Amino acid sequence: MLIRRPPDVRPSEITPQSSYLSRRNLLAGGAAAFAWAATAGANPASAESLDKVAKSSFVVDEKLTSLEDVTHYNNFYEYSIDKDQPARLAPGRLKPRPWTVKVEGECGKPGVVDVDDFVRHSALEERVYRHRCVEAWSMVIPWVGVPLGPVLQRFEPGSKAKYVAFQTLLDAEQMPEQRTSLIYPWPYTEGLRLDEAMHPLAFLAVGLYGETLPAQSGAPIRLVVPWKYGFKSIKSIVAIRFVEQQPPTLWNALAPSEYGFYSNVNPTVDHPRWSQAKERRIGEFLKRPTLMFNGYGEQVAGLYAGMDLNRDF
Ligand code: MTE
Repeated sequence: MLIRRPPDVRPSEITPQSSYLSRRNLLAGGAAAFAWAATAGANPASAESLDKVAKSSFVVDEKLTSLEDVTHYNNFYEYSIDKDQPARLAPGRLKPRPWTVKVEGECGKPGVVDVDDFVRHSALEERVYRHRCVEAWSMVIPWVGVPLGPVLQRFEPGSKAKYVAFQTLLDAEQMPEQRTSLIYPWPYTEGLRLDEAMHPLAFLAVGLYGETLPAQSGAPIRLVVPWKYGFKSIKSIVAIRFVEQQPPTLWNALAPSEYGFYSNVNPTVDHPRWSQAKERRIGEFLKRPTLMFNGYGEQVAGLYAGMDLNRDF
């Protein structure tokens, strides 16, 4: 993201017909969510099918990105900066079990919890979300997981908990670029304001396409924040901290003028090195317009009432 201008961003590409659907379709339901059945099973060998996944009303009625693309075009810098490499390098190296998540900081009930217990209190559900990378490509992905808010509530965040900080595993044996790519301040970190984390759209994914997350997608547990650029959706989480001050995050620390803390999808605020007005949906040729808050404005715009989104980008 930082080092190279993505090859996808070509000014010569033409504006597509307005083929996107209205954001009202977010809650429209529909068949898209279950269209994956035909391709399920193509997941890497380590993936296991997940039982008792409830249908949810959180779907977009848009064509799903293929399982092949979702799991072979990845950003996972702990393995490579090349998008086709995490699928080759992460499976086998990343050990998603046993896995614990430590929750600490400004909360009444801190603890270290086995990942399976971490999500057990909520029923697994499928959510079909748009996924918009800051590099101007996008996908539509059927995630499986649980809403983040109720999981966090169990740890009883206190009155000083204003933000939530997330951290990826730090282990160069499992994540080799943590030893070799020294320009990055490992471990990968991200953060949300507490009210963002509690928003019903914020999601903890443990699977996609009906199966457990493949390593390259952030096994065994990752964040999904669909109205923000994809880099906020931190993979392979081992620690969550309730904090009073805005926490440092990897991309913001590296290049604050390029990657803001909020990083809400916003077609009117360009990245200093490329436009954010359009995006290329993986699997499609023509670009499509990028939607404010990635099409989730009706749900999330209220979180930012009164804020200057040019300044707090
Ligand atoms: N989390 C970790 N730990 N390391 C990463 O390199 N990349 C981010 C985000 N989470 C990243 C990460 C970026 S830039 C994006 S766009 C998404 O993961 C990519 O998710 P995907 O590979 O499942 O599409």
